[in-house]
Amino acid sequence: MAAFRTSLRLARHVPIAPARVLPARAAIPAVRAFSTGAGVPKPEAPKNSNSSILFVLALAAVGVSGYFLVDEPTLASWVGLPDRTTGKGGLAGEADYQKVYNAIANLLENEKYDDGSYGPVLVRLAWHSSGTYDKETNTGGSNGATMRYPLEAGDGANAGLEAARNLLEPLKKKFPWISYSDLWTLGGVAAIQELGGPVIPWRPGRQDAPPEKTPPNGRLPDAAQGAQHLRNVFYRMGFNDQEIVALSGGHVLGRCHPNRSGFDGPWTFSPISFTNDFFNLLVNEKWEPKKWDGPFQWEDVGTHTLMMLPTDYALIEDASFKKTVQKYAKDEELFFKDFASVFSRLLELGVPAENFDAGAKGLEKPGPLTFKTTAEQENSK
Ligand code: HEM
Repeated sequence: MAAFRTSLRLARHVPIAPARVLPARAAIPAVRAFSTGAGVPKPEAPKNSNSSILFVLALAAVGVSGYFLVDEPTLASWVGLPDRTTGKGGLAGEADYQKVYNAIANLLENEKYDDGSYGPVLVRLAWHSSGTYDKETNTGGSNGATMRYPLEAGDGANAGLEAARNLLEPLKKKFPWISYSDLWTLGGVAAIQELGGPVIPWRPGRQDAPPEKTPPNGRLPDAAQGAQHLRNVFYRMGFNDQEIVALSGGHVLGRCHPNRSGFDGPWTFSPISFTNDFFNLLVNEKWEPKKWDGPFQWEDVGTHTLMMLPTDYALIEDASFKKTVQKYAKDEELFFKDFASVFSRLLELGVPAENFDAGAKGLEKPGPLTFKTTAEQENSK
């Protein structure tokens, strides 16, 4: 079905987009196109880079005066204390996580932001907070949510992700029992499912870490490079060639922003619908170098409104990657199945098994949770 939709679009070279999706980059007023924080609360300033000292001071203060110098949720978030005890006293269960999922889902739509949804930037936050993993040293990964601290937030690759972190901040206040690292990864799951993607199995249990646990900058992929770089970066996380391609299909969502990465434009005509169109367009469209004074990127010959990064284009330049791209272009179901499994694994990189055991304590049955979309919940009423 998706292949049919895309071939129609390609045949006519007319962007077919849902009402809220802006068809051509040029039609977007600059101020709106680059607005990154409409309705988003201001970032919370890091309280202190030396959290351990403060933690000790705060604990001392408890001993002396009987109450905290630093508010409890902040202190807890530094050291990963949330014990998942909800306001009702019990450990968080399926229904509590579904509530958080729903609260995230309700934040997504905003016609003033980009193409009408915060979904894409939430997917990018979930992936960037996990994609720092290094299997040799077992460092980085989604456990810790260390992008709250200046070192990781300031990594050039993370430019613009404050929009996603700030969006989720009120939910951390509303559900103080969930760790930032669980909240951010659940944000990616909710965004993908709400935008029409596959069900992503997800397990709770990630624990926030103090700033000392921040991995070094420079572990995320550099879009200006090619196939060998992709392999270096993703093999380091423990993925293979097929999984690199499946994960790259995440670029069906969202767009590049000149004021964040320097690149410009969306990959597909429907950047807030999760489909296999990234692969369809990559193999079926003709691409040429974009003529502009920005960084090298590819542009579609037909409409000059779509883009591919050098790393995206590398997926059809490399014979091994290309075979998988062709498979996913033909078979959306296969892409959805493979994406769900590899994205779920990505979100668990660096999380010790005992964390998931602890996270499962409040659940009725062991194993990953699967969430109902808001539309499914509405339909079953
Ligand atoms: C393969 C290596 C990858 C590279 C080099 C890369 C690079 C980039 C760049 C340069 C941007 C534009 C950022 C901006 O200007 O706002 C971007 C956006 C995005 N990336 Fe990737 N990415 C990669 C993999 C992934 C993966 C694995 C996912 C998820 C599965 C993903 C999901 C996204 C999404 C959803 C956006 C849009 C964000 C928005 O609209 O704000 N990317 N990526």
